[in-house]
Amino acid sequence: MSILIENIKQLITCKSNNGLPKCGINQSEIGLIENAFVLIEGENIKYAGERQGLERFLGNAGKNDITVIDAADKIVMPGFIDAHTHFVFAGSRENEYEMRLSGKSYQEIAEAGGGIAATVNEVRKSTKQKLINESEKRLKKFISYGTTTLEGKSGYGLDKENELKLLDVMEELNMKNKYGIDIIPTFLGAHSIPAGNSKEQYVNLIIEEMLPRVAERKLVRFIDIFIEENYFNTDDAERIFSAGKIYGLKPRIHTDQFTSMGGIDIAIRFNAASVDHLEVLQKKDIAKLSIYNKASARKISAVLLPGVSYFLGIPYQPAREIINGDIPVVLATDFNPGSSMTENIQTVMSLASLKLKMSAEEIINAVTINAAYSLDLENRLGSIESGKQADLLIFDMPSYKFLLYNYGVNNIEQVIKKGRLVYKAA
Ligand code: NIG
Ligand code: FE
Repeated sequence: MSILIENIKQLITCKSNNGLPKCGINQSEIGLIENAFVLIEGENIKYAGERQGLERFLGNAGKNDITVIDAADKIVMPGFIDAHTHFVFAGSRENEYEMRLSGKSYQEIAEAGGGIAATVNEVRKSTKQKLINESEKRLKKFISYGTTTLEGKSGYGLDKENELKLLDVMEELNMKNKYGIDIIPTFLGAHSIPAGNSKEQYVNLIIEEMLPRVAERKLVRFIDIFIEENYFNTDDAERIFSAGKIYGLKPRIHTDQFTSMGGIDIAIRFNAASVDHLEVLQKKDIAKLSIYNKASARKISAVLLPGVSYFLGIPYQPAREIINGDIPVVLATDFNPGSSMTENIQTVMSLASLKLKMSAEEIINAVTINAAYSLDLENRLGSIESGKQADLLIFDMPSYKFLLYNYGVNNIEQVIKKGRLVYKAA
């Protein structure tokens, strides 16, 4: 099947630059083409560019066998990639949300037995099928807001059986979900210390029992840890990442959310794919990352989660300083039942605009090509270029900047995933 999107008012390609992520002033380069054409064949993009150049790709059949979409008044950009979520979980925590509104902090609720532990209890009680069903409902929301690729973490099982159950759910959903959403699983055994274990015992369990089994799942390429007071420290990360490295697992790290305690040093030591959260990131750590990235072929991305700042009432991330440090910025929802209960990446983009003071161009790259790079997927996803997977979004709006300006609504008109129309606004 072929689709031709013609006369596109503004095509935002997010064209990558020798496979590098967009850093510093380049984070504003969106590869805008006006009055553009995109030809999709099967799951892939055959051509993206101006009218001249298109003819030779149309072949003898011309437009006859092709579904044509007239986009004269439309904006087209790559499908959004949400590079940090915890979308597989059971139950919900609206009771905690209300406790926070009446003055309790996220940490106080966790200390009283709520927080991650509450969700772990629900997950352990749930069958795999129930988790698949609930998570698939969430996928429907993700796709409707334009998310075509989704990273998802385990971390609500906290024992071998249940951590593997969560990874199985993601593997099955990746093989088969209605929308064809690509799901990239991350092993986050070190999310919290389960009741009844000492930290030492639990870290040993992760290394000796969980990791060998996780590694059998070829789909899992990333390993995560929550570096925070009362959770895990850099010594634990050192042990867990050293063990993960043997299986080829690359770190993505929850760090500098409430406390700065050396997570950036560990990220550098293990050439992490990303450092995530960064609400309290210090200037000296920005400088370290910046120096490291200049010298390293593979850059460490900063995954900023302003939805968490909004939802928990904690500081916003120093995005401007991070961009000035030439560190590639990614934006993600951190969708989870405790600290950011939204599947809507457009809300996160709005927060990045108003609270992180990022430009529309920087924001669009942060949820497309830079997000793809942080997941090692930049060769297949994240931009509209010939040869890449046909994941793209169509908006009925006057310009791409309108997406940030018209906040709090779903601006999506159509979502094309792997060359197939999977969502259309009513
Ligand atoms: O990314 N910070 C740690 N973990 C999650 C929250 C998990 C939860 O509260 O259920 C996060 O914010
Ligand atoms: Fe998270």
